[in-house]
Amino acid sequence: MKENLDWAKLGFSYHKTPYNIRCYYRNGKWGELEIHSDETIPMHMAASCLHYGQEAFEGLKAYRCKDGKVRLFRVDENAKRMASSSEYLQMAVFPVERFIEAVHKVVELNAEYIPPYESGASLYIRPLLIGTGAQVGVKPADEYLFVVFVTPVGPYFKGDGEITMCLERKYDRAAPHGTGHIKAGGNYGASLTAYVESHDKGFDGVLYLDPKEKKYIDEVGAANFFGIKDGKYVTPDSPSILPSITNKSLCTIAGDMGLTVERRHVPLEELSTFEEAGACGTAAVITPINNIYDPEEDKTYRFKTGDDTWSHKLYRRLVDIQYGQAEDKFGWVTVLDSIR
Ligand code: PLP
Ligand code: COI
Repeated sequence: MKENLDWAKLGFSYHKTPYNIRCYYRNGKWGELEIHSDETIPMHMAASCLHYGQEAFEGLKAYRCKDGKVRLFRVDENAKRMASSSEYLQMAVFPVERFIEAVHKVVELNAEYIPPYESGASLYIRPLLIGTGAQVGVKPADEYLFVVFVTPVGPYFKGDGEITMCLERKYDRAAPHGTGHIKAGGNYGASLTAYVESHDKGFDGVLYLDPKEKKYIDEVGAANFFGIKDGKYVTPDSPSILPSITNKSLCTIAGDMGLTVERRHVPLEELSTFEEAGACGTAAVITPINNIYDPEEDKTYRFKTGDDTWSHKLYRRLVDIQYGQAEDKFGWVTVLDSIR
């Protein structure tokens, strides 16, 4: 119930909203967008998503802004990334235009659940695509289901807005030529042991190294990594990390604000040279990293945080664009005119 929600106290967890949108792929074609109120999905017990991981998802947000309007950020990029995840997992591709239409529709239908401006919360939009066709041999299903639901969320990381990470020396989230570059549910299942072990030790999460040589920085479990030094925004280029839409946007914004942008291999030794470090993504937005612990070397890398940082300036510019308070000069924002 919306009445029971204290927007300012929301964490990143699921709250029921009235409607979700579904679309079925059967007999070689996608059907109509359907409006549902059920939170459950009836499915065959041999569905390929349950056995062979034919599942991909996305994440984006709708923002209630100061001018009363509701905005989406780069929804076309999420649609395209879901298409590339689906292609890699040999699933039916949900067309980009229909993805955008479904996102608009689900936000409009649940508009009451878009948190108010300045509550610190936003409406998280979770599209997913699953193989529903019954399959026992390891091969692609012939039936699929696209679903998009929404849930109001607060900050992804608990605490005071800064995080402490542990360098992950033991586990990989993805293989060198595996699924790290797509948003496959399996990547997240594979990251849970590292997540739990790092939390048990008091960290907010792990920073993965490249799975091939363990020489370069890859990413955080649910966000990309960036470091800042000498007027440079540096972020890893790696085939095993998710191409973050937030990070891609920050590269553009950083360049526009006068930073030199370097997207390249980031050797582990370089960590000690960064003045600032951060995690960036839809859920994380920009979360400053105050320190990173390396258990192998028993060494802690410390970084500057606070208002007087490039990370903070980048955060402000990004959020101001998302909330329609800074010029949308790159054409990233959609206003949902049907919601007032
Ligand atoms: N890396 C991983 C592993 C993620 O799950 C996410 C979240 O989507 C990101 C990075 C950030 O991507 P984006 O900025 O597109 O949300
Ligand atoms: C996002 O930032 O949207 C994500 O998907 C990260 C995480 C919640 C899986």
